[in-house]
Amino acid sequence: KIDKIVIIECGTDFNAGLVGKYAIEKWGNIPVDVELASEYRYREPSLDEKTLVIPISQSGETMDTLMALRYAKSKGAKILSVCNTNGSTIARESDSVLYTHAGPEIAVASTKAFATQLVAMYLIGIEIGRKLHTLTKKEIEVICEEVSQLPARVEQILETVEPLRETTRKFKSAESILFLGRHVGYPTALEGALKLKELAYMHAEGFAGGELKHGPIALIDENVPVIVIAPHDNLFEKTVSNMQEVMARKGKVILISDRRGIEQAGNKAWARIEVPAVDPFITPLLYSVPIQLLAYHTAVVKGTD
Ligand code: F6R
Repeated sequence: KIDKIVIIECGTDFNAGLVGKYAIEKWGNIPVDVELASEYRYREPSLDEKTLVIPISQSGETMDTLMALRYAKSKGAKILSVCNTNGSTIARESDSVLYTHAGPEIAVASTKAFATQLVAMYLIGIEIGRKLHTLTKKEIEVICEEVSQLPARVEQILETVEPLRETTRKFKSAESILFLGRHVGYPTALEGALKLKELAYMHAEGFAGGELKHGPIALIDENVPVIVIAPHDNLFEKTVSNMQEVMARKGKVILISDRRGIEQAGNKAWARIEVPAVDPFITPLLYSVPIQLLAYHTAVVKGTD
C-alpha cells in the first residue's frame, strides 16, 4: 500500500540514507526522498498514510529526527526506524524498528554505526524488492552473498593500512581536502568529508563528480588533496575524467579504487588505495573503511583530540 518512502535523519545518517535511496529505488522501484530532519520538521512536507517514513539514528534520541518522526506520524505515515540504541525514544515511538546492533559508539564520530546503517538500508531494499517482485531470487542471492562477504573484505582492508598512514602524513599542511564520487560514491564522499571535519578539524567537502565543473573546480590547486572514489563500475570513465580535470589544475589525487581501477588510472594519481572489487551498491560500506582510517590517521598526525 506504500507509494513513497521518506528517509529522515541528521549528519552521518543522512549519508547512509542517501545510499539507501539509491538502493531502494533501484531494487524496489519505489520513489524515495532523503531529508535532513532539521529541515523536514520545519517545512510542513506533504505525506500521508501511504508514505513509509524511515528515521535513521544511532542514538535514537536526536531531537530533530524525533520531531520529524512525530510530524510524519501525525500525518498518518507508517514509521520504520533504523536505530542502534535499544529502547531509545525514536525506537519506542516507531511502528517498528530495525536495530543495527553495532554496540555503543564511544567516540563522537559515527563509524561502525554508519556501516550497520548501510547494511540495514540494503536489507530494507532487498525486502522491498522481494515483496514487490522487482528483484529476482537470483539477484537477491547475489546481493546477500556480497553483504555476507563484507567482514572478510573489511579485514582485508585493515591489513593494508600502512600506505594510508603514509598518505596522511602528506595531508598535514593541507588547508582543505576534497572528496569526489559518483552514484553511491557521492554519499561516500560526503561521509569522508564529515569524518575529516569531526576528527582532524580540517576543512573538507564532498562533491558529486558531475558537479565539479559547476563551481568546486575553482578551489583546486597544488595544495589541495582530492580523494577520488572510483570503483571500476559503469561510471568509472566519467570519474577518471573528473580526476584528469583535477590534475590539470595540479590538484593531488588520492585514488580509491579496486584492482582494475588502479591498474587503469592509478599511475596518474599522487597516491592509491586499493580495496576489493564488489557490487557497486556495496562500495560505500567498503570504501568508508579507508576513508574513516584517513580521518583517524590525519587526526593522529595533526595531534587533534
Ligand atoms: C557523525 C556523527 C553525527 C551523527 C548525528 C546524528 O560522525 O556522528 O553526524 O550522525 O549527530 O546522530 P544520531 O545518529 O545519534 O541520530
